[in-house]
Amino acid sequence: MNKNIAVLAGDGIGPEVVDQGLKAVRAIAKKCGHTFHFEEGIMGACAIDQTGNPYPDKTHELCMRSDAVLFGAIGHPRFDHDPTAKVRPEQGLLAMRKKLGLYANIRPISTFSSLLHKSPLKTELVEGADFVVIRELTGGIYFGEPRGRSENGNVAFDSCVYSKEEIIRVTRLAFEYARKRRNKVTAVDKANILATSRLWRETVQALHAAEYSDVELEFLYVDNAAMQIVTWPKRFDVIVTENLFGDILTDEASVITGSMGLLPSASIGVHTSVFEPIHGSYPQAAGKNIANPLGTILSAALMFEYAFGADKEAGLIREACVASMAAGMVTEDISEAGKAHSTSEVGDWIADYILKHYDGCSGGQYRQR
Ligand code: IPM
Ligand code: MN
Repeated sequence: MNKNIAVLAGDGIGPEVVDQGLKAVRAIAKKCGHTFHFEEGIMGACAIDQTGNPYPDKTHELCMRSDAVLFGAIGHPRFDHDPTAKVRPEQGLLAMRKKLGLYANIRPISTFSSLLHKSPLKTELVEGADFVVIRELTGGIYFGEPRGRSENGNVAFDSCVYSKEEIIRVTRLAFEYARKRRNKVTAVDKANILATSRLWRETVQALHAAEYSDVELEFLYVDNAAMQIVTWPKRFDVIVTENLFGDILTDEASVITGSMGLLPSASIGVHTSVFEPIHGSYPQAAGKNIANPLGTILSAALMFEYAFGADKEAGLIREACVASMAAGMVTEDISEAGKAHSTSEVGDWIADYILKHYDGCSGGQYRQR
């Protein structure tokens, strides 16, 4: 295959972790005879510094003409400590999601046997937990109008807005996803309070009855879902929910695996799909070569799966990540005391593992030697 990949490293630890993701992609290219053309774009705080815009048009054009976007993280403490800042890095991420039409954010939560002891939950609760959160990404309170301040500045408001069409397209994806997994969808809302949640519930029920009655469907209020994610995570298969609930629940869900640094995501929709770790820019670690690159490397695996339809390559990358954890080749967030490896060591190890251990790629033989 021959693909164009837009590389948006962003801020904080973004560049370091994206470098490791690219090592894995290059190893696959070499091993499988694929050609990838990488082009870098700026986004986030670094783009504000250079252009005044956190998602410059040039970056958007690059994304539009690419086959996939590999993205690191955005954010900078100087904005976090200044709530009056007019332009913020996060606006760049929201603009990218909106302009690329990325209405679904897929966040798979799976546990790794070598890391079970790192989970804040008891092993018997978390062992075997394997679910996917499908978060609506371009609607709800993140984008709803009107929003702002009263004239005297003492009152602020945000609006949560959803249309049936927005609910249907993301829910359809969740049902399709469930059919390929354990055939169960949990729709999370706050229908006892919110009008938008009642529209969600009604719309999900109608779609289920019309087209997906073979899929098991349940509804949970978001507070209950938050509780069950930590008390009984194994009960979930596919969770579908609105933007803000999905944001909060996925941070919660990510840590039950042992570290947030492990979790990848795929944002898909109308135009080019974006692949990014769910962790943020982690400014305290920036430039120190200590951040966990696995979330990004596993996001590269999702890129092969979703954007390139190359399941075997995705499988190779995942195997390499699992092997690195089993070998103790991990960063400080998941290492035993005193046995931490650096970000780049983990990336090199994984690329090397891909080169050494596999031959055969999509369309060919996949054999582990
Ligand atoms: C995420 C992040 C973003 C969000 C921030 C950085 C705007 O937390 O991707 O989950 O809230 O969506
Ligand atoms: Mn978040």
